[in-house]
Amino acid sequence: MDTETFQGVDLRWIAERVGTPFYLYDAQRLQARIEHIVALTTAPGLQARYAMKACSARRVLECMRAHHIWIDAVSGNEALRAQAAGYSLNPLVSEVLLTSDVFRDNALEVICAHGVLPNLGSPGMLRQLVAAGYRGAIALRLNPGFGHGHIQGCDTGGPSSKHGIWFADALSVAQEAERLGLPVILLHAHVGSGPTAEEFLANMQRLVDFFAEQVEAYPHLQAVNLGGGLPYPYRPESMAIDLQRFTRLLQDAQERFSRQLGRSVRLEIEPGRYCVAAAACVVTRITDIKRTASNEKGPGQTFVMVDAGFCDLVRPAMYGAFHRISVWQAAADAPGEPVVLAGPLCESGDVFTRDSAEFLQPRSLPQTQPGDLVLIHDAGAYGTTMSSNYNSLGRAPQIWVENGTPYVMSRRETFADIVHTECFTAL
Ligand code: LLP
Repeated sequence: MDTETFQGVDLRWIAERVGTPFYLYDAQRLQARIEHIVALTTAPGLQARYAMKACSARRVLECMRAHHIWIDAVSGNEALRAQAAGYSLNPLVSEVLLTSDVFRDNALEVICAHGVLPNLGSPGMLRQLVAAGYRGAIALRLNPGFGHGHIQGCDTGGPSSKHGIWFADALSVAQEAERLGLPVILLHAHVGSGPTAEEFLANMQRLVDFFAEQVEAYPHLQAVNLGGGLPYPYRPESMAIDLQRFTRLLQDAQERFSRQLGRSVRLEIEPGRYCVAAAACVVTRITDIKRTASNEKGPGQTFVMVDAGFCDLVRPAMYGAFHRISVWQAAADAPGEPVVLAGPLCESGDVFTRDSAEFLQPRSLPQTQPGDLVLIHDAGAYGTTMSSNYNSLGRAPQIWVENGTPYVMSRRETFADIVHTECFTAL
């Protein structure tokens, strides 16, 4: 996201009104990504679901819905948020799939009350569904024995992954489900992005071949879902995926499964980050610049202190994830200096410039001064949804820019919000 292209909106003007840090969403950028997904899935029998865990803001969901992109939800509350944005939870419509490894909170309640299609990630969930009174169709999330997320922390398939039902156990779960009157109508797997675009396409083809060996054993099958994980190029040098190759792969798979079963089978994908990563950035203010000197423990550093922390965007602290960083309205040729961008939290790991081994990775930024605004880009996916109010800092507001007009999508959390659920009542 370039600093000058937020539809002409002045970020200082927004900062004066809502304070810093804040999330800034750009409707045009979201629209551009949605159009990629729509283009990928225009052929008959293809359907995209948006993995709303990436960003569950209502406005974002409404944009997805306007383009007939369905939803993959993880929790009862995500399903209800989809409903609040206009999606139907009716199982006959199939717009919302509820994929989880564990039923928690109101998940079973929402499934039973609305019939949202449950996608079981663990064999015992079948008994839990039946015990809760559910008598409808189900989906099974399989662990196909392989898979690799975009970072080491995302272990999406294989013996060490907690996700899904091990593929060799799936058929016995399906048979038990049939006996209980719960037909399996959708088979699912999410093997993740893989670190490179090339690996993603290879993984997807492998997944298609894997499902081709399974589908004939499921007499009620209506759909196969290949999961999400379309890679997003966070680093300037990373490759974007070849959408044409991917759409051909999807069409071939849809035709292959349909031929095998002698009827049309829907083929689904469920990208998250690809749709929304580019749509938002964190806007934060420099509060101070301080230096340490080299000694026997290591080299001295320049710390650019900002008011955003990992409570706002946890990806760098949690995974060493790379986010492009720029200074608002800095001259393109301003001389750079390697700095560490660090936040307000009382934790040494509250640093936006670090690698996955948790070492500092100073980044070259133009010369800055306290008061300047810094943008942490590509924060639309797993940004606000993974934010917290650690240290009792209020969650940052979300600003949406559409047709040159900024709107507040959520305000900053206040002290009253933070203590809202606290109580001391005898049970
Ligand atoms: N479908 C399922 C079942 C998933 O578990 C996920 C992501 C997706 C779809 C969407 O994957 P995507 O297209 O966004 O890669 N917090 C981490 C990402 C965790 C991904 C969890 N599952 C991050 O910040 O990178």
